[in-house]
Formats: sequence, structure tokens, C-alpha cells
Amino acid sequence: MTSSEIRKTFLDFFQSKQHTIVPSAPIVVKGDPTLMFTNAGMNQFKDWFLGNQPAKYRRVADTQKCLRVSGKHNDLEEVGVDTYHHTMFEMLGNWSFGDPNDPNAGYFKKEAIAWAWELLTEVYKLPKDRLYVTVFEGDKKENLHFDEESNTCWKQHIDHSRILMGNKKDNFWEMGDTGPCGPCSEIHVDLRSKEERKQTDGKILVNTGHPLVIEIWNNVFMEFNRKADGTLEKLPARHVDTGMGFERLCMAIQQKKSNYDTDIFQPTINYIEAMSGIKYGSSEQTDIAMRVLSDHIRAIAFTIADGQLPSNNKAGYVIRRILRRAVRYSFTYLNFKTPFIHRLTPLLADQFKEVFPELFEQKDFVQKVIKEEEQSFTHS
Ligand code: GLY
Repeated sequence: MTSSEIRKTFLDFFQSKQHTIVPSAPIVVKGDPTLMFTNAGMNQFKDWFLGNQPAKYRRVADTQKCLRVSGKHNDLEEVGVDTYHHTMFEMLGNWSFGDPNDPNAGYFKKEAIAWAWELLTEVYKLPKDRLYVTVFEGDKKENLHFDEESNTCWKQHIDHSRILMGNKKDNFWEMGDTGPCGPCSEIHVDLRSKEERKQTDGKILVNTGHPLVIEIWNNVFMEFNRKADGTLEKLPARHVDTGMGFERLCMAIQQKKSNYDTDIFQPTINYIEAMSGIKYGSSEQTDIAMRVLSDHIRAIAFTIADGQLPSNNKAGYVIRRILRRAVRYSFTYLNFKTPFIHRLTPLLADQFKEVFPELFEQKDFVQKVIKEEEQSFTHS
């Protein structure tokens, strides 16, 4: 399956389960002082979770452009050095919104878990013996209980030895220092070779940072609001919030060892290879630089297309820093001594024109902004 087919299959699957497909919200968040960039698919529904606004739809699915470069969720320093973190990434998500006046409205753990399993194993056909799931073990300090319901639901689908317990750090998801949160149940995939799997049980590598034993999907069961004083209060209703890393899912389905080997990143890497005369795979340093460039151009281009220009403060400064990180790698390791990064924009705009047309529609403007920023940083 191509990445476009994988994305479409996800949306079609949840549409067939009566979900309304909505567009991605912009990457740049306006009007929420707790958040600069969209860091999860659920951000645009925050007021529905909190009960500040009634939910417009009971069930929703989408692919959301996310950026994890600041605040509670920040992966910037990992990007390029490893093969599975990104600044900008797509998060596939499905949601169910409860109703404070109707305890039977919406679905909860049973359906979310059953559909996640159905999609991964019956539709995408990921082998069951490569998957592990985690369940929240509870946390005494916060007076949070073991998630028995998820544990029971999973037992209907997966070999019991593949259900692992997880602590608050890994299995209690929070949007930020404040806001909607709840216990979560993650799905991890083991993409190592047969020999490696024989040698070391995948179970002990879950949540240890192994590049081929990685989380692909998080099912969050929203039940609480973290308040500014640090306490948890019950939400008026219970909700489902899921997030699946699209690039990681593509790596798993396309049987690659790195997100950058999928058809999402290969066109950009091929172009960088052609322009630099350096082959991807020829050295660790140049590989990291190519990964940094092919990742960072996405964050920069999509954020500018969503209305945030590089500048000296707040969100604008974060974008400037990401662009400068890319320039440093391209100058130092790939020998681009004149502005180069802006030239990756048209390729990206074409690649995503069906799913995120906002970049395609503004590609000349975006390219010009990036070029000027590169010129002013390198004084060229
Ligand atoms: N909100 C679910 C996640 O980001 O993992």
C-alpha cells in the first residue's frame, strides 16, 4: 500500500463506522494560551471534551498535522538522529464524544479497542504476533485505578501475554500542563528481524526507545481535566481520543526499518541526493542531515502555509529555530553553501496537494519566505 492508500483506508474505515471525517486544524493554535502549536489530533476538540461547547458530531475521524517542538511534547532534539521522531507528523485519529445528559451517548473502550484491532490486523494485515498493547496500571499518588476495563477488552482480541502494564508516564495521556487527560492504552509493533526477535523477547523492549519496537497508536479514554493547581477533576462526560502516528504506521505496513524509507520521505531524500551528489546511506552524518532536512522542511512549509511566519518571538521564533537547524545541517554536512532548503517546497506541495491543499495553493509564497529567511541567516 502507498502512504496515500494507507491514509485513505483509515478514513474510509472510520467512515464505515459512522464517523464524520473532518479536515485537519491548522498547525498554529490561536486563542489557547496553553498551547502554541497543535500537538495532538484532539486539540481542536478541547472545548468539546471540557464541556465548554456541545460536540458538533458524536463520532469524528481525521488526519491532523501536528508539531511537537515545544512545551510538554517536544521531540526536536531526537529528529534526524533517530528514524522515527518528527517535528511535523500526521496523526490519524478517531473520536467519540460523550454527552453529560445521556450516559449512553458515544462509544468507549470496548468499541475503540475492537476497531483498532480490526483495522490493524484485518484491514492492514499487520501480524498479530508482532503487536503488544499496554494498559494503565493505576497510580496511588493520584488516586487513579488500574484500567481493568481496557484489560478485559484486550483479552477478547490478543494473546494475554502480549498485554503489558504501563505506568503514569506512558499510560496516562495529558495534552499539556492543564487540560483534558485520561488513562490510555497503546499499541506497539515489533519490526525487528526474525533472528533478533528470537534472541530478545519484544515484550522487554516496549517503551525502551528501541527504534524498531515502537508505539504506533494511542487510545486515550478522556475522563479528567487537569486543573492549574495540579488536581484532577472529572469531566462532565467520558470520551475516546485516539492518535496513530501515520509515518510509523506506513513504516510498519511498508515493512521498512525507518520512517524515512517510506514513500512519504523518499521523494525528498532522492531530490536531496541528486542535488548534493551524496547517496543516502553513505555515512551516518550525511544520513542524519538528510533526515533533518526532509523532516524540517515539512514543519516549516506547512506552518508558514497555516499563517505563521518566522520571526523573533513565540511561534515565529520556534519556526525560525527549526529552519536554522536545517540550514546548519545542510551547510555543514551536505555542502550546500547557498540557500537550498526552499527548493524542497514544490515537491512537498505536489505530494500533499490532495490531503493538505493549503500548501499547494501558496507554494510560491511559502518558498519565497523560506528563501529570504535562509538568505538572511547565511548572509548570502
Ligand atoms: N491524544 C492522543 C495522543 O496524542 O497520543
